[in-house]
Amino acid sequence: MEKKIGFIGLGTMGAPMARNIMDAGYEVHVYNRTPEKAKPFVEDDVPVHDSPAEVAIHSDVMFIMVTEPEALNEVLTRENGVLQGLQEETVVTNMSTVSHEATMDVAESVESAGGRFLDAPVSGTKKPAEDGALVILTGGDESLVEEVTPVLQTMGKEIIYCGETGQATNMKLMINLLLGSMMEGLSEALVFGKKLGLSPEKMLQTIEAGGLHAPFFSAKTNAIRSGNFSKNFPVNLMLKDLNLVMDSGGNNGITLPQTTVTREMFNAANIAGSGDEDMAAVIQVLEGLTDTEVRG
Ligand SMILES: NC(=O)c1ccc[n+]([C@@H]2O[C@H](COP(=O)([O-])OP(=O)(O)OC[C@H]3O[C@@H](n4cnc5c(N)ncnc54)[C@H](OP(=O)(O)O)[C@@H]3O)[C@@H](O)[C@H]2O)c1
Repeated sequence: MEKKIGFIGLGTMGAPMARNIMDAGYEVHVYNRTPEKAKPFVEDDVPVHDSPAEVAIHSDVMFIMVTEPEALNEVLTRENGVLQGLQEETVVTNMSTVSHEATMDVAESVESAGGRFLDAPVSGTKKPAEDGALVILTGGDESLVEEVTPVLQTMGKEIIYCGETGQATNMKLMINLLLGSMMEGLSEALVFGKKLGLSPEKMLQTIEAGGLHAPFFSAKTNAIRSGNFSKNFPVNLMLKDLNLVMDSGGNNGITLPQTTVTREMFNAANIAGSGDEDMAAVIQVLEGLTDTEVRG
C-alpha cells in the first residue's frame, strides 16, 4: 500500500512541495497555521486538517516546512501538535532550516514518542520547489533515507546523504553561509563598479565571460538591474540563517570573519524595512552608503 503523507507548513516553499507529492499520486494530508493559505488545497479536495496532531494521525511519513527553530518546536510540542497524534513508526521529516541543536532536540522527541526522524533541509528556492528540482540534504539512518527517497524524489532533483542526524542541518547552514557571502560580495562589486562609472550590463557581461560565471550571479544581477526585489529567498530568512551560522560558529570554535560582516549587512537591510524583499535587496544598503544606484 502506498504511504500516506502529511505536510505541515504551506508557505513559499511548502505549498509547491506538497503539490509535487500530490501530483505524484500520493494521498496528502496538510495543515497550515493560517487557514487561508490552505484554501487552494481545500478547492482541490485535499484533506486540510485543523491541527498538526490530526495530520500526524493520518500519516505514514510527515514533512515539516516552517520558518525557524521556534516554529518547528511549536508545531511539534503545542497542544494538538505532531507529538500528540504521532503513530508508532511514523517518519517525521524536518525540511525547515533550523539549528543543529533544534534538529537533535526534535529527533529525540520524535523517537521518544515512538516515531522515526529524518533531517532533510533543502537547497534551492521558490522556482526549484515548484519544478520539483530542489537539492535535498539528508541526515540520519541510511535505510530510513532509502525508504523515504521515492517521496523525496517528487520534490528534489538530487538527494545528498550528509551523514548522521544533524549533518544535513550543518550542510544546509554551510551552503547558506556561502550564499549570503556571494550575495553580499556581488552587491559590493556592482556598487563599486557603478560608482566608478561602469555599466551594469558590461559588468554582467564581464562576470559571465570568465570563470566566475554562475547562474546565481546572472539571476541576481538581472534582478538588481531591473529593481525587482520580489521575494524568492527573503532578507529576513537569510538573516535568520546567518544568525544560526554565527551561533554554530560560536558553539564550535569556528571563526567567521566574513559571515560576521555579511550578517550585519542583512541585519541592516532588515532594519531598513527590506525583510520581506528578496535577499538581493541587501544591495540597497550599500547603494545608500555609497550614494549610487546600480539599477538601469
Ligand atoms: N524561501 C526559500 O527560498 C527557501 C529556500 C530553502 C529553504 N528555506 C527554508 O524553508 C523554510 C520555509 O521557508 P518559506 O520560504 O516557505 O517560508 P514562508 O513562506 O515564510 O512560510 C513559513 C511557513 O511556516 C509556518 N509557520 C511559521 N511559524 C509557525 C508557527 N509558530 N506555527 C506553525 N506554523 C508556523 C507559516 O505559517 P503561516 O502561513 O501561518 O505564517 C508558513 O506555513 C525556512 O526554514 C526557510 O529558511 C526557504
